[in-house]
Amino acid sequence: MSYLDSSNEKLNRLKKRGDIVILAIESSCDETACAIMRGKQLLSNVVATQIEIHRRFGGVVPEIASRNHTLAVENVVKEALVKANMTLKDIEVIGVTYGAGLLGALLVGVSYAKSLAYSLDIPLIAVNHIKGHVAANYIACPELVPPYVCLIASGGHTAICKVQDLNEIEIIGSTVDDACGEAFDKVARCLGLPYPGGVEIEKLASEGNCNIEMPLPFKGEEHFNFSYSGLKTAVINYIHNKEQKGEEYSKADVAASFQNRAIGMLVDNTIRATLKYGYKTIVIAGGVGANKLLRSKMSEEGKKHNINVIYPPLNLCTDNAAMIASETRILIESGAQCANIDLDGSANVRIFD
Ligand code: KG4
Ligand code: ZN
Repeated sequence: MSYLDSSNEKLNRLKKRGDIVILAIESSCDETACAIMRGKQLLSNVVATQIEIHRRFGGVVPEIASRNHTLAVENVVKEALVKANMTLKDIEVIGVTYGAGLLGALLVGVSYAKSLAYSLDIPLIAVNHIKGHVAANYIACPELVPPYVCLIASGGHTAICKVQDLNEIEIIGSTVDDACGEAFDKVARCLGLPYPGGVEIEKLASEGNCNIEMPLPFKGEEHFNFSYSGLKTAVINYIHNKEQKGEEYSKADVAASFQNRAIGMLVDNTIRATLKYGYKTIVIAGGVGANKLLRSKMSEEGKKHNINVIYPPLNLCTDNAAMIASETRILIESGAQCANIDLDGSANVRIFD
């Protein structure tokens, strides 16, 4: 029997159990990560971040990211096994991010996962990174069930989806240009803050006031799309203008005013969409979900309208493999097929494939 046939047969048997042991690998950007779950319980979650390596370049350098994934992946997997008090023999399914992300970086995780799955003769599941971000919510909140509205706000994506059930997801709004996290990173760079910019803007903003006027794209329009390019350019122009004229300005006020507008747009669109469709739950996914202003504003607005707002724990908002393990479990439950040994990385996959 071929590897794929035997994998699908095994998965069919496994999915009847609620305690499958899954090892997941994530390497789509600058975090090499491995996590192990048994059923809905997270047993270990190891993240080797390359932030310090890329910081001197002001952003992720794809070639350097791939090389460092290659150096880190084996130790990260070993550490996850030790922390879960397991050996490879205990692993029943491997999950791996196959896209979206940096192709060279993805390929390291995909190749490693394929060789593990093939040599152990166990099923391999290909995971969409963005769906992984959503699945991070199920780790701390296993009782979460659709329907809900999901806000995805990461470095590469910004979108609002209606999740009627896990196989019926509709994107009802998305960015027409930059992603929200991308705008945070670019504005941070212009303010001379280190990469990654989101968390640095958040820190600086706490010392400033929202006293600089910021543009509001799509003002008064009823759709749920986003635009971050005009906001980013307005901030960069403000900074350049002040610097050219030799005028003093407060970087903290710039950070606070930008953050307020960037987060305000996320909250406004998400709440409007949730009210329009009559949903009662909002789920937040992606790195920007770690932003405290987003969390507090969304909760505050949610409360006003009797909407429950759910976020992943802070450490599961940015890239990690626990979310990939969680999505692997969900895929198995919903009848997904195994990946074959020719699984490839894919830089661009749709938000929900
Ligand atoms: O989801 P993620 O880890 O990677 C992608 O899949 O893109 O998101 C990373 C993005 C970066 O742009 C980063 O600046 C942003 O999330 N981010 C934040 C915060 N923490 C991370 N943005 C705003 N506030 C934060 N606290
Ligand atoms: Zn991500």
